[in-house]
Formats: sequence, structure tokens, C-alpha cells
Amino acid sequence: MMKILFVVLLIKSILSAEVNDRIIGGTLAADRQFPYQVSIRNQSLGHVCGGAIIKSYWVITAARCVFRASPSSTYIVVGTISLLPSGTTFPVSKFVIHPQYDDGTLKNNIALIQTSDRMLGAPKTALVPLNIDVTLPGEMGVLSGWGKLTTSAPSFPTSLYYANVSVISLSQCRAALPQYTIDDNSLCTYTSGYGSCDGDNGNPFVRNNMLTGIMSWGIPCAVGKPDVLVNVTSYACWIITNAN
Ligand SMILES: *[C@@H]1O[C@H](CO)[C@@H](O)[C@H](O)[C@H]1NC(C)=O
Ligand SMILES: *[C@@H]1O[C@H](CO)[C@@H](O)[C@H](O)[C@H]1NC(C)=O
Ligand SMILES: *[C@@H]1O[C@H](CO)[C@@H](O)[C@H](O)[C@H]1NC(C)=O
Repeated sequence: MMKILFVVLLIKSILSAEVNDRIIGGTLAADRQFPYQVSIRNQSLGHVCGGAIIKSYWVITAARCVFRASPSSTYIVVGTISLLPSGTTFPVSKFVIHPQYDDGTLKNNIALIQTSDRMLGAPKTALVPLNIDVTLPGEMGVLSGWGKLTTSAPSFPTSLYYANVSVISLSQCRAALPQYTIDDNSLCTYTSGYGSCDGDNGNPFVRNNMLTGIMSWGIPCAVGKPDVLVNVTSYACWIITNAN
């Protein structure tokens, strides 16, 4: 009896691993396809989170990515789709973390990072404008990042991946994640088989070539639950005032 149960469990875990292996990764990005994408690095230049260039000196990301870090031990790598030594590395001069960021509930999970020099002077870079239009459920956008390709992956992929995902309504999102608080400044995406994983925090969600969301949290990794993002449009005033 025990043996049969064990075999069943084993088959089940192999099946689910296969499903995950195939789907989380999305598609390999082409060189210059996401010129606004940055990799936020720690003091040993290890990848920590994603982010996006919104102005020549400013990166936007999730607050949780920088909350415990210090500007002097953080670096921004731009102009590359690889995590191997490449692109251009910028030191950081300051963080602006949303003053109402809550590290427990991840409410207002948004932060700005100022670099010490102009990022747009580096090759293969471009900014992404903020979306100030209304985004409706059902609209598609693209999420890019170096997050893990499978739940069990020991490390981040060296190449940038992306997935086209769909915006869902906040009520659908709350119904899918009933045990969590999803506030009105959130934006949820869900497309069966796609989703974020470890290392995807802070990544940009771009719709119609405009920055619409910032990856905040999810149940890793593409296990059939929506991803919860920060709705960039809701924070447009705060972003414009502070990225200055
Ligand atoms: C930097 O990040 C990498 C993961 O990319 C991690 O393995 C390493 O321990 C981190 N180093 C420091 C000093 O935090
Ligand atoms: C993602 O969407 C874009 C724009 O609609 C489309 O051109 C592209 O082929 C899609 N890519 C994938 C991998 O689905
Ligand atoms: C994002 O916020 C804007 C401004 O508050 C709002 O108009 C839009 O509907 C929100 N998007 C979603 C998908 O909830």
C-alpha cells in the first residue's frame, strides 16, 4: 500500500515538474528587444531583481527589492539580455522607497533608484514611458525578466525571457487569492501556463509600449494563480514627483 502511494506521488511530482519546466520560461528575448530592462545587482554583482529605466537617471522597481539594501552596495546593469558580465554597470546614488510601503503586506511595493550617471548614454538602452491610460481586463502586455525558469532551478537563467500575459480584473484576482489582501492600486495578470518565479520581483509589465505594472508578488511559479503587480498608473503622480 505504502509502495503504491509512493509511486503515485512520484509520478505526480514528475508530471508537475514537466509542466513547470515547459511553461514558466516564456520565450528567449532578442538583443535590444527590451532596452528599458535592467538587472538590479548586489555588492557582489549577483542579480537580485528586475527594474525598468523610466528616465536617464531613474530606474523603477519593487520596494521589496531595495528595502533591506543600501545604495552604496547596489548596482544597475543596463543594455544586455545576459546576466554574464556584459552591458554597462552604474553605481547607485539613492533610493526613494514609497513612504507608505508595508514590508508585511507589500502594499505600495514601489521604489525608485537614482543612478550616479546617465543610463541612456550607454549602448542598447531606452526608457519606457509611464502608462497614463486606463488598462482594462483582457488587455495583453509583456512581462520580461531573469526570474527562475522552474520552481526547482538552483539559479537564475543567464538570458532574459519574456511572456505575453493578460490583465484580469481585481475581483477575479481577489477570488483567485482569497487569503491575501489585494488593494485597489494593484494590477493582476494571469495567462494559464505563464507566470513569474523567484527573481522576477520588480520586473516591468509593458502594454502598448508603456509601463503599466511592476511585478510585486505571486505564488511561485506559474502554479495557476495570478501574479500581483503594482498598477503604475495609480502611482504616476508619485513617480513623476519623485523621479526628479
Ligand atoms: C548576491 O546575489 C546572489 C544571487 O544572485 C547571491 O547568491 C549572493 O549571496 C548575494 N551576495 C550578497 C553579498 O548579498
Ligand atoms: C507577444 O505579443 C506580441 C504582440 O502582440 C507578438 O508580436 C508576439 O509574437 C507575441 N510573442 C509570443 C511569444 O507570444
Ligand atoms: C490602474 O489604475 C488606473 C488609475 O487609478 C485605473 O484607471 C486602472 O483601471 C487601473 N488598472 C487596473 C487593471 O486595475
